[in-house]
Amino acid sequence: MKKIANIEFNDFPVFLAPMEDVTDPVFRWLCKNYDVDLMYTEFISADGILHGGKKGMRKLLLNAYEKPVGIQLYGKNVEALVEAAKIAEQYNPELIDLNFGCPVKKIATKGAGAGLLRDIPKLLEITEKVVKAVKIPVTVKTRLGWDFDSILIESLAEKIVETGAQALTIHARTRSQIYSGTANWSYIKNITSNPKITIPIIGNGDIDSAIKAKEAFDIYKPDAIMVGRASIGRPWIFKEIKHYFNTGELLPEPSIKEKVEIAKYHFNKSLELKELNAAIVQMRRHYVNYFKGVPGIKPLRIKVLQANTPESVFNTLDEIDYNFGDYIIER
Ligand SMILES: Cc1cc2nc3c(=O)[nH]c(=O)nc-3n(C[C@H](O)[C@H](O)[C@H](O)COP(=O)(O)O)c2cc1C
Repeated sequence: MKKIANIEFNDFPVFLAPMEDVTDPVFRWLCKNYDVDLMYTEFISADGILHGGKKGMRKLLLNAYEKPVGIQLYGKNVEALVEAAKIAEQYNPELIDLNFGCPVKKIATKGAGAGLLRDIPKLLEITEKVVKAVKIPVTVKTRLGWDFDSILIESLAEKIVETGAQALTIHARTRSQIYSGTANWSYIKNITSNPKITIPIIGNGDIDSAIKAKEAFDIYKPDAIMVGRASIGRPWIFKEIKHYFNTGELLPEPSIKEKVEIAKYHFNKSLELKELNAAIVQMRRHYVNYFKGVPGIKPLRIKVLQANTPESVFNTLDEIDYNFGDYIIER
C-alpha cells in the first residue's frame, strides 16, 4: 500500500499528468474509466484565480467521479499562490499541486513554472507558505533543473521534504530540453534511494507502454509514476499498465473498431459537458492520436478534424470504422 499523506493507493500507482488543454473534466472522466489512480486539473494561474478570471474559476470545478484529484496552481508571487491555494482548497480537491516545471517561455522566463528553478529560495518559500496556509496536502511538480549546467533536483528534493510538502513529482528533463531528448530517470533513482527523502517520489517522463511502466518501477523505484502524452488518444494505457502488473501479460492493442467506439464515447461526454463548439474543437487533438499509424487513413483523419457538427463527426467516425475497423496497429 502506498500513500500520499492519507490518500491510499495500491502498490504500483499510476497517475495522469496535468496537461493544459488536455486533462479537462471530460478527459479525466475518460481516464477514470481506465482505472487511473490520481489525476490533476490543468494548471491554473494563481493570479487568474485572484482576479476571478472565468477560465481559471471554471478549471477549479471538480466532479465526484474524478476523486482523488489535485488542483494544480502556478504563479510567481508568494502571496498570490498562498491566497489562490486557500480559494482552491474550498473546491475540495484531495491535494494542491504546485507547478515549478512549466517550460513555456511566457511563463518560465517570467519567473513562474520552471522559472522558479532559478530562484530556489522563492520556490521553497512558496511551498512552505502554501503548506501552512491550507489544511489539505500540498505536493510539488518540477524538473531536473533549468539546464544541463544547473541540474539541482537531488539537493532540491531534500529541501522540499523540509517544507512540509507531501510528495514530489519529477519530470526527468531540464527546462531547456522542453520536451526534446529523453527523460533521464537516473536522477530519480538517486533520490528514491536517498534515506533523507521521506515523502513519495512520483516519476514522470516518456512512459508510453506497460513495459516501460514496469521498468520504471523496477529500476528507478518511484512510489508512483505519472503518464502524460502517451494517454492522449490512448487513455486505456492506465488499464494496460494495471493489467500487466497484475498478470504479467500485455493486453491486445484495440482494433480501430474499438478505438472508434472509444472516440465516440469520449465525444459524447464532451457534448454532454461542454458547449457545442468547444466539444467539437477540443476533441480534435484526440482524434489525431486515436487514429495515428493506420496506412491510408489520412483523408478520413483530416475529414474528422474538419467536421464541425456532431452529425458529421459521428458519420466520419462510422466511415473510419467501415473502412479500417479490423485494422490493429502494431506496437
Ligand atoms: C500539452 C501538454 C500540456 C501540459 N500541461 C502541463 C500542466 O498544465 N502542468 C504541468 O505540471 N505539466 C504540464 N505538462 C507536462 C506533463 O505534465 C508531463 O510532465 C510531461 O508531458 C512529461 O510526461 P510524459 O512524457 O508522460 O508526457 C504538459 C504537457 C503537455 C504535452
